[in-house]
Amino acid sequence: MTVPIAIIGAGIAGLSAARKLHDAGLTVHLFDKSRGSGGRMSSKRSDAGSLDLGAQYFTARNPRFVSEVNRWHSEGWASEWKPHLYNNHTDGQLTPSPDEQTRWVGNPRMSAITRGLLGHLTASFMCRITELIRGEKHWHLQDAEGNDHGPFSHVIVATPAPQATALLATAPKLASAAAGVKMDPTWAVVLAFETALDTVIDGCFVQDSPLDWVARNSSKPGRDSKPDTWVLHATSAWSKEHIDMPKEAVIEHLHGAFAELMHITVPAPIFTLAHRWLYARPAGAHEWGVLADSDLGLYACGDWCLSGRVEGAWLSGQEAARRVIERLQ
Ligand code: FAD
Ligand code: NAI
Repeated sequence: MTVPIAIIGAGIAGLSAARKLHDAGLTVHLFDKSRGSGGRMSSKRSDAGSLDLGAQYFTARNPRFVSEVNRWHSEGWASEWKPHLYNNHTDGQLTPSPDEQTRWVGNPRMSAITRGLLGHLTASFMCRITELIRGEKHWHLQDAEGNDHGPFSHVIVATPAPQATALLATAPKLASAAAGVKMDPTWAVVLAFETALDTVIDGCFVQDSPLDWVARNSSKPGRDSKPDTWVLHATSAWSKEHIDMPKEAVIEHLHGAFAELMHITVPAPIFTLAHRWLYARPAGAHEWGVLADSDLGLYACGDWCLSGRVEGAWLSGQEAARRVIERLQ
């Protein structure tokens, strides 16, 4: 019997690694503490439809990622989003800010991509891994319920850096590199309006505000046009400063900032929601690709090992899988 490879985290990095290993004929087993796949690329089903609370869109610049995204497009998992983009200025003016950048989203929701990648791969959800135990030859994983999983030949940790640190304790060098990566939070708020807001704006890069970005979720391909749903992201600084603010107060503050930004009468929303991403983005940039202890068979990947974006996370997962395959040859 072949001993499988464990992957902790079924976000885009973990799934990127899982697919590459599977395509090389290896057996993988994914673990995730959430109910489903996607991590920061997941979507939330709500009374106002499906909402992209984390990653809003992604760009593809690396040729390997470009060809992967084209594959997702041909599978029907991803579509191009062509928003009317705006910018705000210090004097409060909103001006169109068009560009030539191709921007991709999952269709009909962001999580369609990781669902597609997951396919029939073996995965355990609602399973938080708390410890990695290295035996003489193989790895075992301990979960928060006290269950043991294993044996595994290799382990790939594909979680945000702060969550990876404890899992990497067996390899102190890797653990200390992960511990050095700080990740900033982002408060996300959704406002849904019964009648569409009177604006052509689909997305706006915001300056000098508690807000960093606002987007009309319903303008993305495949989404319901009713109600008119908007996703608001606070800046890292505002999110840090208000990290423990109750959700109702966060909604009120960001709703106020949104009304000020838009220069239109914003009616009372019929639905609101707030979500706190504790580890939204790495505070600094790294170019590690992957962290590896090949002798132990332990690897760490994720957006924090490259650019803190969807593309960087996918490339990092590819690199982790490549290193495992290289070791097995
Ligand atoms: P994650 O998606 O975080 O996946 C890690 C997974 O590990 C999660 O599913 C988690 O549940 C699981 N996990 C953690 N600990 C454990 C454990 N102990 N046991 C089991 N499972 C565990 N990127 C862009 O390119 N464009 C954008 O517009 C954009 N906007 C963003 C907006 C927000 C608000 C946020 C939060 C992120 C945004 N990003 C954006 C960044 C992008 O979402 C991430 O770079 C990317 O999704 C990270 O993928 P990942 O696989 O490295 O990590
Ligand atoms: P991109 O090229 O569209 O954007 C990169 C940055 O360039 C933007 O943040 C914005 O400041 C600027 N920009 C781009 N197009 C613009 C335009 N038409 N008008 C005015 N400014 C423009 O996409 P890329 O490089 O793929 O970045 C992804 C996005 O994801 C960024 O906006 C980034 O801030 C966001 N992100 C947010 C996170 C969060 O936690 N809120 C985490 C990770 C990424």
